[in-house]
Amino acid sequence: MSSQPSQHNLSSEKKDRFSSSGFIFAAIGSAVGLGNMWKFPYITGQYGGAAFFVLFIVCLIAIGLPVLLAELTIGRGGRGNASSSFVKVGGHKIWGGLGMLSVIAAFLIISFYSIVAGWTLNYAVSAFSGKLFDNPDFTAQFNEFMSGNKPIMWQFVVLLLTGLVVIKGVSAGIEKFNKVLIPGLLILLVVLMVRALTLPGAGAGVSFFLNPDWSKLGAESLLVALGHAFFSLSLGMGAMLTYGSYVEKRQSLGAATLAIGGGDLLYAFIAGLIIFPTTFSFGINPAEGPGLVFIALPAAFSAMPFGTLFGGLFFILLAIAALTSTVSLLEVPVAYTMERWRWTRAKSVWIILSLSFLLGIPSALSLGVASNITLGGKGFFDWMDFIASNLLLPLGGLIVTVFAGYFWKGVAEEAGLTAWWFRIWLFMLRFVAPILVLFVFLHTSGVIKF
Ligand code: PHE
Repeated sequence: MSSQPSQHNLSSEKKDRFSSSGFIFAAIGSAVGLGNMWKFPYITGQYGGAAFFVLFIVCLIAIGLPVLLAELTIGRGGRGNASSSFVKVGGHKIWGGLGMLSVIAAFLIISFYSIVAGWTLNYAVSAFSGKLFDNPDFTAQFNEFMSGNKPIMWQFVVLLLTGLVVIKGVSAGIEKFNKVLIPGLLILLVVLMVRALTLPGAGAGVSFFLNPDWSKLGAESLLVALGHAFFSLSLGMGAMLTYGSYVEKRQSLGAATLAIGGGDLLYAFIAGLIIFPTTFSFGINPAEGPGLVFIALPAAFSAMPFGTLFGGLFFILLAIAALTSTVSLLEVPVAYTMERWRWTRAKSVWIILSLSFLLGIPSALSLGVASNITLGGKGFFDWMDFIASNLLLPLGGLIVTVFAGYFWKGVAEEAGLTAWWFRIWLFMLRFVAPILVLFVFLHTSGVIKF
């Protein structure tokens, strides 16, 4: 049960650590992604606006933060990858096997998350060039884009950019990239927020987003909010655990957890203050679904003065947010293969990216030309998303909470909380989080229905 580092942990690779601010930026970069800018607005729209937002905040604080702290603590305690860290802090080998699930989840997610990230790059380029606004039928434009080979090409670009960052390592690659882009992202977001809030009729959007109508909430909204809190904080797929393994001992993990949670919420909040005022101002239905950002927003930008500029900025912003997340996803299997098979970083990066690219092709095609090939009503993309986000992610979260809450004796020492906070944390980890996460799992896997 000792958390003493072994000889192996002291190998030069593991000395590649984050600085304390670098870690916060990188972790916020992982958390802030398409989840905040694309998924959060459309599910908030679908589940009724402000009341759902409040529920999301509650889930983020009550369940997300305790699980986030648990992942960081296991990572730093073990200083290994998303699988070996469990064993290195004294867990039975079985935990290492269970941790493998999150390595697999991360790998699967890269293969389809990078596709949507590629769309944002395509939209950024075509918005800046003005081409996006040539044809005002944005649904047709989206469908046409999806049925060609461009999504595959852009996915390739996303993976390449991700690889170029991760190959440079933790401090020279991941940290530097996030330290520049995360503050940059905030500036872009604020510019767009000011633009959105000053549009005629923006007030109705703000009130939809911030004036709760409690009658719209139900059990399903709770589970969706909880699942999204997990996804948004990058939990359950080893990303935060792996980042945690590069954190210095003197850094306070409790404070880091608050900063990351606060950052994630702030970016989602601003994204809401961009998207809802804009959609309401142009009479677009906020419950549009996944197409909200790619179909409804271009329509709004095209009708706005300087829409080319603001539209271009918006999609650049989405692309940046997505890239800082794909970087953290890639680091999970890279850290695993480097430690387990002693691959060099470069070898890990290119092999994993090539495999993700190959796995991504059927996903991309299943949204375009091959959309008629389905199994049980789902295409390949939907299956990947379902397996990774709905099954492996809650399962990964459950493993972390149960391990930290019940099986790891050294957890208190590594987490470094005061006695009072530790008691609250342990209570959440032992009793509240596992039960709720189990419900999410049963719901998303289709066992229980509302
Ligand atoms: N948190 C990211 C988002 O909101 C997604 C993500 C999940 C990234 C898991 C890394 C790991 O888009």
